[in-house]
Amino acid sequence: MESIYLLNRTEFGSESNLGQVMTLEEAMELLSLWVKNDKLLFHMKQVGHLMKAYAAAKGYDEYMQHMWHLAGLLHDADWDQWPDQHCRKIIEELESRNIDPRIIRTIACHGPRYFGVEPVTEMEKMLYAFDELSGFVHAYSLMRPQGYEGMEVSGVKKRLKDKTFAAQVSREDIADASERAGIPVEDLISFVIANQLRA
Ligand SMILES: [Fe+2]
Repeated sequence: MESIYLLNRTEFGSESNLGQVMTLEEAMELLSLWVKNDKLLFHMKQVGHLMKAYAAAKGYDEYMQHMWHLAGLLHDADWDQWPDQHCRKIIEELESRNIDPRIIRTIACHGPRYFGVEPVTEMEKMLYAFDELSGFVHAYSLMRPQGYEGMEVSGVKKRLKDKTFAAQVSREDIADASERAGIPVEDLISFVIANQLRA
């Protein structure tokens, strides 16, 4: 695999930082410093929201929900200003802040084809699964006069087959992420429609 984004490592953060997070306010402050692109900021908020909603639906405790939320919220934080250092820059920032290694590793594997890190845990697999799909469903909502109102899984699937619609969204990654998560793409779409943060 040839990618300028390859991280060339599989260990992230330190075990001694397990249980260490930043507050939501601190995460938002970092984003306001790093991200000037409102669309990208909203994308991260949407993915963070989905991650938290999924952890909550699974009955995970508040700490876990917060970890899932942070991983989604920060996963593209460096994309706006340092695209050629994506996602190395945010990983190093979180490592310097002694953040829970599970959050850092989750961010490191949100694009296995690009970063060369395989998602292993459920949190890692779900960030990969929600990332592209959230953006895709959002794009679909923008072209529908009724937005999310009455949106159906079949409508999203139809658009997925139309390669000219939201062409930048990788169908290959969506299918790969669904397979790795062991969750049918229909179920993922249904969860995104029901839980997506709306503008
Ligand atoms: Fe993303």
